[in-house]
Order: sequence, then structure tokens, then C-alpha cells
Amino acid sequence: MTKIGVLTSGGDAPGMNAVIRAVVKAASHYHLEVMGIQCGFQGLLEGKIHRLTPLEVEDIADRGGTILKTSRSMEFMEEIGRKKAVEILKNQGINSLIVIGGGGSLKGAEKLHELGIKVVGIPGTIDNDLAFTDYSIGFDTTLNTVLECIGKIKDTDFSHDKTTIVEVMGRYCGDLALYSALAGGGEIISTPEKPLDVNTICSKLRLRMSNGKKDNIVIVTERMYELQDLQRYIEEKLNISVRTTVLGFIQRGGNPSAFDRVLASNMGVTAVELLMNGYSGQAVGIKENKIIHKELGNINAGIADKQDKYRLLEKLLS
Ligand code: F6P
Repeated sequence: MTKIGVLTSGGDAPGMNAVIRAVVKAASHYHLEVMGIQCGFQGLLEGKIHRLTPLEVEDIADRGGTILKTSRSMEFMEEIGRKKAVEILKNQGINSLIVIGGGGSLKGAEKLHELGIKVVGIPGTIDNDLAFTDYSIGFDTTLNTVLECIGKIKDTDFSHDKTTIVEVMGRYCGDLALYSALAGGGEIISTPEKPLDVNTICSKLRLRMSNGKKDNIVIVTERMYELQDLQRYIEEKLNISVRTTVLGFIQRGGNPSAFDRVLASNMGVTAVELLMNGYSGQAVGIKENKIIHKELGNINAGIADKQDKYRLLEKLLS
């Protein structure tokens, strides 16, 4: 193995650049070459491949986004597209590949492994929706961004005795909402794992207001409510004024946190070493503070059970 390919795929996540740096640096340490593939699997299909030098990645660890760019490729979803990708990799002399991305991207990585390419996946997604790892790269940074934004909203809510609904990302995983509330960011939360109906949200708000708490943050995971309807319902039912803030793409950008940068470095180096040691079809993760690796075929079993965290939250929000 002399040439390793690396690509980022799916939604970008802060810390992806720190992984790229770690991959290139570790490879260089072991006298291996790294080929950067632009724009994820779609860029691979278009042959957008160039050599990445250690000098090029020297100062990227603190940058948000991904210098390689990313995409969601429809063509790669088809078997014919994946076979084409294998041909292109072979023609470039790339027989090992590191894929950085979320669940869909790691599924794509698994498919390439089945077609004979040596592949290691690294979880890069702000959603933290991969059960095999306690943290995916980007989640910690995004959580901090969410908390910073909510802190600002709280200042104005407090001054006006207002309630704000804050919608956070996460796709079908409530971790961003859950951890934000655990960190003191919100008083009422509704997640796909523990959804609240509108009347429950209203009765929780009513109780808090009768206890003297006039400004409240309701954190909800995206895709759960028609936000305008939810806002109007609460306003009419409780006769209060409510605002709604959708944090949107602010959550995906920004400089990665120290935690994400260190995790990214750890995972990037581990991925290179796994490939060097003959592993393929593996995903790198972190469990109970230890870097682990697991078969790509076994990682998409769903979102991790966070019952312990929800039990903790009950005590904090009551
Ligand atoms: O997976 C990351 C994520 O930001 C999700 O939280 C969100 O649902 C989705 O991507 C948004 O995707 P798009 O970039 O296609 O709008």
C-alpha cells in the first residue's frame, strides 16, 4: 500500500479538516502518499483527484468546513456508479481509501470495501447519530455553537419575559437538543427519541410560568413540527408572545473545538494505521474514551440509547 485516497462526504462537519491533516501527516510519517478526492463520491466519479502534501495541510486543523469539499452523490448510489468509482481508483493506483462522513457516507464506504477496495471510515457528522461511537466529529463544536446562540436568545428573552422555540439540527437524532438542555441551554426539549405533543409543551410552560419563570427556551429537533403552527398554538393557548429561531447552517460552520480537533487527529492517525495493518471495511469510533474500530457492516444499527442522559435531564428540568 503506497497510495491512500481520502474524501469527505455528506454534510460537512467542523473537524473534517483536522482529520485530513492527521491522515496526510500520519501517511507522510510512514512514507505513504495521500491523494485528496474533491467533492466526495461525486468528485471521485468525476476524477477530481490530486496529491495532498503535508505542507498543504499544515494550517487547516482549525478551519471549519472541508478543504476537499463535499457532496451527496446520486450516481454513486447506483451499483454502476460504484463500479466506475472502483475503476477510477484502480487507474489512479489508489487501493486504500479513507471516507469521512455520516451514516450514508459510511454505507458507501462499505460498498467499496465489498468491491475490493481497502476502506476505513471515520464518523464526521454534527448529528451524532451513529450508535457505534459515543461522539462523531463535529458534534462537540456544533453543540457549543448551539449553546452560544441560545445564550444570546436567552438574554433578550429574559429582558422581555419571552418564550422562544429553538429548532436545532440532528436529522432524526435528538442529541444536539438533549446535550444542549443538559448543558443548561433550554428548559423544555422535544426530540425524536422523547417527543412531546403540543399540549404537553403548553402545560410544561404553564407550570414554569406559574412558578415565576417568565422567559423559557423550548428546544426541538428539526423535522418534528410545523414551527409556525407550534408557535401559534402556544401563543393562543397560553396567551403569551412566542418567537421561533431556526439555527440552520450556522450549526455546521465555524472553527472546530479542541475536543473535535483532538478526536479528529486520533481517528485520522488510527485510520492510516489500520490500513497499514491490513484492515479493511472498518469504521473508527470512540467508546468510553477509547479509540475503537468496528466493522462497517455493523454500525448502522440506529441511534444510541441515551436513556441515562434523559434520566439525568429529568432531574435538571423538574
Ligand atoms: O447531517 C447533517 C445535517 O446538517 C443534518 O443535521 C440536516 O438534517 C442535514 O444535514 C441538512 O442537509 P442539507 O445540507 O442537504 O440541507
